[in-house]
Amino acid sequence: MNKIAVYPGSFDPITNGHLDIILRTSNIFDKVIVAVLENPDKKSHLFTAEERVNLIKKVTSNIPNIEVESFEGLLVNYVKKKNSSVIIRGLRAISDFEYEFQMTLMNRNLNPDIETFFMMTKTDYSYLSSSVIKQVAHFGGGIKGLVPDAIIDDIYNKIKESN
Ligand code: PNS
Repeated sequence: MNKIAVYPGSFDPITNGHLDIILRTSNIFDKVIVAVLENPDKKSHLFTAEERVNLIKKVTSNIPNIEVESFEGLLVNYVKKKNSSVIIRGLRAISDFEYEFQMTLMNRNLNPDIETFFMMTKTDYSYLSSSVIKQVAHFGGGIKGLVPDAIIDDIYNKIKESN
């Protein structure tokens, strides 16, 4: 049976923590769909959904069983539409737990056939988040090693553009 996993998120932008989860998931499942949330409140994101998709594609092009696209609406509906029944989420610190717990139970309530699997982050990336990276980059701090090298310039340029 072809096992497809969906790894959803905002990915604004993708970090090395996300990439690590993608790589590890791609070793377990036949196909991993990285699903970028198309948020109606566009102001809340640095990059558009299309730009976020393209950044992820840029840094995952060497992984054969990855697909990247954006989605709108309920995640469980999207997962079903993609013929999957598995949601992947990364877990960092205990502080992630409450949010993830709530989301998982709500998704299960919406569709009990869909399971959420949690991947523990690599210790090196346990403090990373897209928000912290944007903040550091905004004030000119170094982000090498925190996001894939190939997108460092994209982040600084986008921040400059949006100022
Ligand atoms: O990277 P994030 O921002 O923590 O990802 C959150 C995401 C995209 C997984 C979540 O916001 C989501 O699934 N949104 C779609 C709407 C939905 O299905 N909501 C019900 C579950 S609470």
